[in-house]
Amino acid sequence: MAKAKSIYRCSECGADYPKWAGKCETCGAWNSLVEEPLARSDARRAPAPAAARSAAGAGAVVTLGEVQGGDGTRWRSGLGEFDFVVGGGIVPGSLLLVGGEPGIGKSTLLLQVAARLHGAGRRVLYVSGEESPLQVRLRAERLADRATDVLLLAETELETILATAASLSRERALDVLVIDSIQTVFTSELEGAPGNVGQVRECAARLMRFAKATGTAVVLVGHVTKGGGIAGPKTLEHIVDTVLYFEGEGTLDHRVLRATKNRFGSVDEIGVFRMGQDGLAAVENPSSLFLGDRDAPASGSAVTALLEGSRPVLVEVQALAARAGFGTPQRVATGVDSKRLALLLAVLDKRAGLSFAQLDVFCNIVGGLRVQEPIADAAIATALASSVYDRPIPSTALLLGEIGLGGELRPVSQVERRLAEAARLGWTDAYLAERGIPSRVPSGLRVHGVRTIDQLLRTLFHAGARESEMPAGVA
Ligand SMILES: Nc1ncnc2c1ncn2[C@@H]1O[C@H](COP(=O)(O)OP(=O)(O)OP(=O)(O)O)[C@@H](O)[C@H]1O
Ligand SMILES: [Mg+2]
Repeated sequence: MAKAKSIYRCSECGADYPKWAGKCETCGAWNSLVEEPLARSDARRAPAPAAARSAAGAGAVVTLGEVQGGDGTRWRSGLGEFDFVVGGGIVPGSLLLVGGEPGIGKSTLLLQVAARLHGAGRRVLYVSGEESPLQVRLRAERLADRATDVLLLAETELETILATAASLSRERALDVLVIDSIQTVFTSELEGAPGNVGQVRECAARLMRFAKATGTAVVLVGHVTKGGGIAGPKTLEHIVDTVLYFEGEGTLDHRVLRATKNRFGSVDEIGVFRMGQDGLAAVENPSSLFLGDRDAPASGSAVTALLEGSRPVLVEVQALAARAGFGTPQRVATGVDSKRLALLLAVLDKRAGLSFAQLDVFCNIVGGLRVQEPIADAAIATALASSVYDRPIPSTALLLGEIGLGGELRPVSQVERRLAEAARLGWTDAYLAERGIPSRVPSGLRVHGVRTIDQLLRTLFHAGARESEMPAGVA
């Protein structure tokens, strides 16, 4: 009988078994056994550089300043939004993981990045385990970038991939290795099927050692689970240097690239792309995606400026308050936290005398964005009031500020940046907390300081916000 090459280890208690079982006999956990190579303790260790090993086997200790190498090089793809999100370009020897829903455009993005890196003189190998070479070529031909020159390997066995990468490196160092996807790659050391936890973990760990040992940057494509996380063990996200998520709303053609972990840059940045016939194109002005048609202002619409990372983005909030049908009035929030909406409705009722008790309320963020900052409060509240009064807010008015339970408007962080973006896009009036007015205001923008939501509604609608003045038949 062939000698077993792998063992099954319980991820809960660490007990080892020669065979897989549904339950760990030691700790009683179900479905916790994960396959691991038997020779892992030797093979797993990254080979330490010979110079760092002393005769006695102890490691050589150096001060951080003495560490050699690393001239701060980054490989820019020239696909600006991608470079921006990874922190200014790919760091040699780093391991990146790009996750996203099926069909969102992961392969397209990485093929474009590969093509541009190739164009910039980098040596790139694109390994496709999911698609045939013909499929990849057809995509490459469709893209605006010159992707047909990129080196392709259609392979799923890790040993072959690494041997190919190493042999290519002998001629001339391989700079970037793209693996599409990590779930299709398997090592013959383990018996489990590609994509299972043991396989994914082992393959990713081996690719990580390859990256660190050779200086080749490795980019992994990862599938996501139903819950939206990257499929496979959590260790996958721990061992990589950078985790990027490629997201989008199913019905819209824009895609957002976001870093959730980055050892070499900020995790706050987003890159916005539009998917088209010839691939992904960077969207220079993301605000245009999140603003509805601004020419004919309608009631129930208000604009605020959110920060996506360091970027200010103008976002339109839409609200509709309509007479409720039978039963409890509905509260439907899309892109806004429903608890936040409930809080704002209560504040409007108590502090501005605007009752929604008999009204169904719908609140939506244009462009499928999710609002996380409470700074959108002022825009949500005024959009709601505007819908109740059926009076539009001027289309060039910007509303900024968190609203407290007392109805007070709070100052906004990084207000200068938000105002600058609004002024750049032609906004003429900004409404924000009196205390938070910056000393320097961009030219062309009038800033109106207000103290409370009641005062804000009075200023905007030139009328009292009290219930007695509400249009007949609404409340
Ligand atoms: N001719 C085309 N015109 C416009 N968009 C296209 C065209 N062909 C493909 N697409 C877009 O590209 C997407 C597929 O991209 P891609 O194969 O890169 O996604 P993926 O994330 O790698 O998918 P998978 O999870 O299946 O690997 C499609 O969902 C579609 O939006
Ligand atoms: Mg793909």
